[in-house]
Amino acid sequence: MKRAKILIVFLTSLALNISAQTKKPVSAEEAKMNTFITNLMAKMTVDEKIGQLNLPSSGDITTGQANSSDIGKKIKDGQVGGLFNIKGVDKIKAVQKVAVENSRLKIPLLFGMDVIHGYNTVFPIPLGMSATWDMAAVQKSARVAAIEASASGINWTFSPMVDISRDPRWGRISEGSGEDAYLGSQIAAAMVKGYQGKLQANNEILACVKHYALYGAAEAGRDYNTTDMSKVRMYNEYFPPYKAAVDAGAASIMASFNEVDGIPATGSKWLMTEVLRNQWGFKGFVVTDYTGIPEMIAHGMGDLQTVSALAMNAGVDMDMVGEGFLGTLKKSLAEKKVSISEINRACRLILQAKYKLGLFTDPYKFCDPTRAEKEVFSPENRQIAREISAESFVLLKNNNNILPLKKSGTIGLIGPLADNTANMYGTWSVAALFDQSVTVLQGLKNALGNDAKILTARGSNFLADSVAEHRYVNVHNPTYKRDPRTEEEMIKEALKVAEKSDVIVATMGEGSEFTGEASSVTDIQIPETQKNLLKALAKTGKPIVLVLFTGRPLALKWEEENIPAILNVWFPGSEAGNSIADVLFGKVNPSGKLSATFPQNVGQVPLYYAHKNTGRPLAEGKWFEKFRSNYLDVSNDPLYPFGFGLSYTTFNYSDVKLSSNTLTKGKTITASVTLSNTGKYDGKEVVQLYIRDLVGSITRPVKELKGFQKVSLKAGEIKTISFNISDNDLNFYNSDLKFVAEPGDFQVFIGTNSRDVKTAAFTLK
Ligand code: BGC
Repeated sequence: MKRAKILIVFLTSLALNISAQTKKPVSAEEAKMNTFITNLMAKMTVDEKIGQLNLPSSGDITTGQANSSDIGKKIKDGQVGGLFNIKGVDKIKAVQKVAVENSRLKIPLLFGMDVIHGYNTVFPIPLGMSATWDMAAVQKSARVAAIEASASGINWTFSPMVDISRDPRWGRISEGSGEDAYLGSQIAAAMVKGYQGKLQANNEILACVKHYALYGAAEAGRDYNTTDMSKVRMYNEYFPPYKAAVDAGAASIMASFNEVDGIPATGSKWLMTEVLRNQWGFKGFVVTDYTGIPEMIAHGMGDLQTVSALAMNAGVDMDMVGEGFLGTLKKSLAEKKVSISEINRACRLILQAKYKLGLFTDPYKFCDPTRAEKEVFSPENRQIAREISAESFVLLKNNNNILPLKKSGTIGLIGPLADNTANMYGTWSVAALFDQSVTVLQGLKNALGNDAKILTARGSNFLADSVAEHRYVNVHNPTYKRDPRTEEEMIKEALKVAEKSDVIVATMGEGSEFTGEASSVTDIQIPETQKNLLKALAKTGKPIVLVLFTGRPLALKWEEENIPAILNVWFPGSEAGNSIADVLFGKVNPSGKLSATFPQNVGQVPLYYAHKNTGRPLAEGKWFEKFRSNYLDVSNDPLYPFGFGLSYTTFNYSDVKLSSNTLTKGKTITASVTLSNTGKYDGKEVVQLYIRDLVGSITRPVKELKGFQKVSLKAGEIKTISFNISDNDLNFYNSDLKFVAEPGDFQVFIGTNSRDVKTAAFTLK
């Protein structure tokens, strides 16, 4: 007894000393936590420590083949640290009870879930959310998601997904915030804050930043594929959102499936320890992605024991589903392939997360069954979702001000998404109530009452081929039913409706599962059968508004040339139809802006605004010049550039005024424009600030987003919009990976998107 006590005191002081060595003063609270965990760990066997590192899936939802058997017994035996994708507060409470009443050390479990864009109340898909450019809205959506998930027993969400992607072929571009490191970083931080708050209340849950790292740069846009890029690009263009999430206090991070520099991320010590912990000071725990450890066998890194040891030594703490840690770490310890200090490190970090959540004080903190009724899918939450969805819509075209529509006459609502409850949510809607989404038809009816007549026709299926369509839309959600008629029959019916209508609202594009995990494509156009319908409708000469559903940038060249109005609504979530009606009838003026470039065709991919210049750039406004960097068959221009989005009103930008043409290190200058709402509607504009570093020790992008402000202006109103610029905004990672601002000349751009800008110049002394 006495010996054990002495040992505990010794271990406690050791833990405190370690903290002391890092020179960060340890708060009383942290010291208390350290003591608690040290005492607990002193009681744990090696098996129990390894057990904490095991994260099986409950089987409620599976995203792969692997599944753990007999989870209940494993929990009793102390072989489980957390469980994920188990739904329902009662079930979660029952499982937690097994852990805290029937296991030897009574250590509570973490309960994770992919709460990606809302829980029962579903918000727009993340790519849509990023198009709001409204950080308060982004944070609020994460807050509501955390409230609803925690009221259902969840204490850990596998979100935010912050992978930069410049490849619309990649299905998971829908889960992130688009192509830009700066915008992506702001969103990453806002999401973490929204989920975690202060991690005190019973509605504040752990965030998990994913997928670290570079998952969005998969070669050819094919999911799980190899990535390969220079360190300079990693640090400047792909790492910033992960780092921003870490700086915002993210409690956990998920390793990505892909390799980085020849080593699968899950086994990369450089990523998990050197960059994440040593350079960025990450204090939380690292979890693998689904079967990330055993997948390293197929990557060619060795057998299960070898790859499990590789992950542990790299700095991975928790094994999702793979059971490589559970099955092999003890053997590796005996064979000295891993050390007990690595296992202790991982175990301590998992226990710390549980401690910070308050699970040791109250393991049922997130299991209050009375909360769900009041706090989940409440009218308040749905109203928030409705407002945020409307903010995410991007008006791509509006010839002759067709929009907003009048609430009169006859509206022909046509297309496979007109009345489609199954496809309003988009990917990763694990807790969505599929029978309760508001369809476009319902939303229009709610808005119109008896003011206008609505005629509907389905017009087409998603795809002509039924086998392919099943693959595209029915894997996770079987509720979508295909129309058995032929393409001709359906178009015929649609044309009859069109004939009787004053305006056609064509609801088309992708279904929910066209994007998301393992949903890569090589053709990014609206599927042919739908395009055939659209072409037939266009021939009628009736005014058409295309309400476009999509989880990725699409190639819309034909639509841009032939359809007068295009409103991109992504996947809007629970309140889809209502928010679409709000915008179509002008209750809300659209203000979304693209966070990813829309190319003219898939062959231009990757196409992004912050590209380098090359030694043979094409002169502005040119299409083709021999021996310049361009294509024979298409111009270098995007169809819609990054930051693009129209409004029902018009905004005029003055020239850029700088407070000085010289910036001194440590000081700031101000860049401002006068912004006027010159149209007839009140509206919101996202004013965007870009900077170009004209000469550098390494080549620099032609433009980089460095600031933005979303502002409201009444019709006729004029506002001055100012941005402070300091040398911090000019920092970049040079070839020594030092974060520096280099003296020299810079260009400032302010405008309504990345292409249409006003410019000025200054020098950094
Ligand atoms: C995905 C992750 C997800 C995990 C757990 C994986 O297949 O890549 O994003 O969090 O499954 O469901």
